[in-house]
Amino acid sequence: HIYNYNEKYRPRYHFTAPFGWINDPNGLYYKNGSYHLYYQYNPYGIKWGNMSWGHATSQDLIHWTNHPPAILPNDLGDVFSGSIIIDKKNDACFGKKTICAFYTSAGDKQVQSLAFSTDNGMTFKNYANNPILIDENEKDFRDPKLFWHEPTDKWIMSLATGQTITFYGSENLIDWNKLSVFGKGIGCHKGVWECPDLFKISNDKVTKWVLFVSINPGGPNGGNATQYFIGEFDGNKFTPDNIDYPLWLDYGRDNYAGVTWHNNPNKKPTYIGWMSNWDYANEIPTNYFTNAMTLPRTIELAKNGNSYCLKTQPIKELKYLRTEKSHIESKLLQKSILVPYFFDDNLGAYEILLDFVIIDQSTSNVNLTLSNSVDENLLFSFDIKNEKLTIDRSKSGLINFSKNFAKDKIIAPFPSQIKHQLKLFIDKASSELFINKGRIAVTNLIFPTEPYSSINLEVKNGSIDITKFTIYKLK
Ligand code: FRU
Repeated sequence: HIYNYNEKYRPRYHFTAPFGWINDPNGLYYKNGSYHLYYQYNPYGIKWGNMSWGHATSQDLIHWTNHPPAILPNDLGDVFSGSIIIDKKNDACFGKKTICAFYTSAGDKQVQSLAFSTDNGMTFKNYANNPILIDENEKDFRDPKLFWHEPTDKWIMSLATGQTITFYGSENLIDWNKLSVFGKGIGCHKGVWECPDLFKISNDKVTKWVLFVSINPGGPNGGNATQYFIGEFDGNKFTPDNIDYPLWLDYGRDNYAGVTWHNNPNKKPTYIGWMSNWDYANEIPTNYFTNAMTLPRTIELAKNGNSYCLKTQPIKELKYLRTEKSHIESKLLQKSILVPYFFDDNLGAYEILLDFVIIDQSTSNVNLTLSNSVDENLLFSFDIKNEKLTIDRSKSGLINFSKNFAKDKIIAPFPSQIKHQLKLFIDKASSELFINKGRIAVTNLIFPTEPYSSINLEVKNGSIDITKFTIYKLK
């Protein structure tokens, strides 16, 4: 295949396939020092089709080595999304510690299949008696995600079934019993439910269960997004806490189908999402590859009044990518400052840290604008009074490749507080903003025709104290 790593919108520190289309992350697991990332892949083209599992590995979740596709379409159909577990005790009888992949075979019907690997996840053999799970009545029946449930001594599979999630249990990974169905009358139902992930999460005080459910359409800004539920799981049934759902993992247009790593050596659950939107994913203006993954992120459980919510932050190892630093001394800001040309050889890959304190009750807006010399810009407008962030990418660069791309402004909550901390990652064609240690995340694609090279920070009707303003070039 021809591929071009110098292609204009090829990110520098995000995962992309050397050639071809990608969507959902699949089969995330860790073993012997390597993080494995499989992904929905078209090995033959830059649009969706021929769905297979591509494969890459990494020691640090940042630098990836790509490998040949691991699972290809077969008699049962295309290979849709799914997950991998390590069968430590040999429950499936393929041998101790065998790598077992569960995926959806999409042929005439969607059914679940099993494949296993005895060469560290490089190649897979399909189980001879596939499919292992069928349902005559469900049209949308896909994306199996597995984990071992210690207290009840069995494997659990979460499966997207129409606009619900069905949980199945098994002792041998091959015969599955239906346990319960979750989702009727709760959460967002404006689209099909996909890519579930049920996992345990703890902070110093409590342990809770989290259920991710990706939905398309129905996201807070149109198209796809991932909602989540927090509650309890007893080995049969997920019972959500009484919270005002939907809760969104990311308010941007471009973070979908994210799931967590199995056998993750880190204390915090770690996940990665697909950085695009089905509204325009097949039309984005790249030539050799289509779409990237988000930055890997850790998940934390946080208190939110009397209930809970999640915080998501980019993995801290990203700091090893920092090279040159441009630093603005702390100051009181009453109108605006312009930070031009922050680096020589600006390739459009950097991180901006901005902390500020609102010192004046009358402050109504803080606007952060990234722009280039051809007058393209990406605007973040923090509306302090109305507790709302508006992102405008309508002049961000190429937008006309799809009528859906910049049709509407992107809105996210910006809960009021005195001190704010913003962390913004730009990697050529993407922007990932984390507000107040990950309480709000907003991921959006951009296609500037040249890298943004200046920042304008403006305060309306008041003043702020800038306590940190640092830009790091990232290698
Ligand atoms: C989500 C999804 C999954 C499916 C896969 C097909 O983006 O629609 O539900 O398994 O993509 O590529």
